[in-house]
Amino acid sequence: MLKINDIKNIIEKNSQDLTQEFKRLFHGRGAVYPDWKFLTIDSIDDILSVTFYFECDENTETELFEMLKEFIKTTRHNTIVLQRRYIPKTTAQIIAGELKDNLYVIENGIKIKINLLSNQNSGYFPDMKIGREFVREIAGDKKVLNLFSYTCAFSLFAISGQASSVLNIDMAKGALTTGRANHHLNNLDTKNVSFFPYNILKSFSRIKKNGPYDLIIIDPPTFQKGSFAASRDYEKIIKKLSSLASKDCIILACLNSPDLDSQFIIDIFKEFAPDFEFVKRLENVKEFVAVDDERALKNLVFKKRDA
Ligand SMILES: C[S@@+](CC[C@H](N)C(=O)[O-])C[C@H]1O[C@@H](n2cnc3c(N)ncnc32)[C@H](O)[C@@H]1O
Repeated sequence: MLKINDIKNIIEKNSQDLTQEFKRLFHGRGAVYPDWKFLTIDSIDDILSVTFYFECDENTETELFEMLKEFIKTTRHNTIVLQRRYIPKTTAQIIAGELKDNLYVIENGIKIKINLLSNQNSGYFPDMKIGREFVREIAGDKKVLNLFSYTCAFSLFAISGQASSVLNIDMAKGALTTGRANHHLNNLDTKNVSFFPYNILKSFSRIKKNGPYDLIIIDPPTFQKGSFAASRDYEKIIKKLSSLASKDCIILACLNSPDLDSQFIIDIFKEFAPDFEFVKRLENVKEFVAVDDERALKNLVFKKRDA
């Protein structure tokens, strides 16, 4: 069993090259350290951001924060903030220092607004870093459709990679408002960026009207009550791809479900979009260590077969 001192060693090792950029220092979620599945520790510039996904016993909590308060004496961090994700609608606890307003993370030079005070999703999904690198690399001159865009992080990377246009779609209006602000924060021109607050499953004809698209990103939740269930609804999107895609279209199909594996996506493409071929699965960020890679994030690339 991993002791507090082992966690200290892990985060010290991961802290050697810290910059302003976001970095995960400890990832318990991947079950590599079974007793610490509840814990993640992130470096966000001068903030050490700790998340508990379920309750930990009082002694462990006290020891952990004693260790972290010592740890930040030697690092760039001034603040420790704790989110207890297992308590609904609670605000974060500031364990040391203070939390400024208008926070953002920096990833590969791009700023993305975050809210560390709520115990909901912060506005930024760090495990998608390699997906966003992929999008920036291939976006040049492409017309991009970003489905389930949330705060439009993919759009920032597509536009900074010279995409010709991006259509962001998410039913959460507030997320799109943050998405627009994220473009402004990075001085990215939004002339060719659109933000549609639609339920995707009910809006295929409007989405089609703005196509065809050269790059389509599909990054849905695994399950969101009343809105989307990957096991049932993912195929509804795949069935529409042929009518949305340009002739050389590339698809980035994402899924972060522990219970649905890569084969689930590959199979629904085979069945419902046979005009696309599977190209590769993108690697996951190395700090997000997981016992079983298939229970972690899957980013699968497909491309339209030559006609
Ligand atoms: C996993 S997040 C997407 C993460 C995002 N792609 C990113 O890069 O940060 C899932 C998003 O799907 C949206 N959503 C869920 N069901 C939807 C639906 N039927 N239509 C449109 N948006 C939906 C939610 O509002 C949420 O913002």
